[in-house]
Amino acid sequence: MVSTLLVTGDGALSYDAGSVTLPRTVAQEGAASKAADLQGSFSLADVSVAYGRDRVIEGVSMYVPPRSVTALIGPSGCGKSTLLRCLNRMNDELGNVHVGGTITLDGADIMGRAMDPVELRMRVGQVFQRPNPFPMTIWDNVAYGPRTQGIRKRSELDELVEESLKGAALWAEVKNNLKKHAFELSGGQQQRLCIARALATKPEVILMDEPASALDPISTQQIEDTIAQLKDSVTIVIVTHNMQQAARISDQTAFMLRESLDEPAHLVEMDETRKMFTNPDDARTESYITGRFG
Ligand SMILES: Nc1ncnc2c1ncn2[C@@H]1O[C@H](COP(=O)(O)OP(=O)(O)OP(=O)(O)O)[C@@H](O)[C@H]1O
Ligand SMILES: [Mg+2]
Repeated sequence: MVSTLLVTGDGALSYDAGSVTLPRTVAQEGAASKAADLQGSFSLADVSVAYGRDRVIEGVSMYVPPRSVTALIGPSGCGKSTLLRCLNRMNDELGNVHVGGTITLDGADIMGRAMDPVELRMRVGQVFQRPNPFPMTIWDNVAYGPRTQGIRKRSELDELVEESLKGAALWAEVKNNLKKHAFELSGGQQQRLCIARALATKPEVILMDEPASALDPISTQQIEDTIAQLKDSVTIVIVTHNMQQAARISDQTAFMLRESLDEPAHLVEMDETRKMFTNPDDARTESYITGRFG
């Protein structure tokens, strides 16, 4: 399944969207619209982030619709990972980080006292650039989250492990070897294991920070296919430096930019991916997408 972003000789953008969105069946559409529609939606209002006195992001407001793929793009250092970490409060772990503004998940303030960050991270899972399976078996990796949630029954855990590995398109390759140590898997398999581990707690959202940038083209394709399958049930926010990848897999794209090191980064624009890649409102978006900077 390949779609292409074409940059023509005169720098104009054209976009073959033929296979960007997988066709959904009528039944899937119905199920998606019937389900609690807010589930897995983020709203950000005037979000700012400072590391100590260094203000790195300011004034970011955006809506991340549920059950869709949102790509975060922008030059290195513009705060994509920082913004992503705000969404499940991973920044809390870094210390000396101040996050301002409001972020709501399904309408609830995630920075308020009522929100338990550990519970939040079960609802908003994260997959990193380098696969980071735990040093244990495949089965134990996937069962880890549900066990933390208090699930003890072996049959229930087995079911969750199978379902999650299927969701991450890894089941067929490992089903006869669930006791194998995770480190014996290839890099691409390890990354899909990390996706399975995130899926096992039944998250509403999965954050992915350049999940395929350390992988070969075939593993990258498998990750992209997995994302396309998952978006019927999970919201995905993905950081990528690969413009073709953003164009292939995302429904909407947000472009962030830090104009100079003295200024914090901001959101230049966010729109449907098709529009961002063919007819963006802002000239800086077009320059970035066509590779003129960054
Ligand atoms: N833990 C940290 N402590 C202090 N400053 C940080 C920390 N993490 C990131 N920064 C700074 O915040 C800014 C944004 O960094 P961030 O990693 O979010 O950018 P990015 O867009 O993800 O970059 P890349 O594309 O290279 O991954 C940079 O100036 C970076 O130096
Ligand atoms: Mg980053």
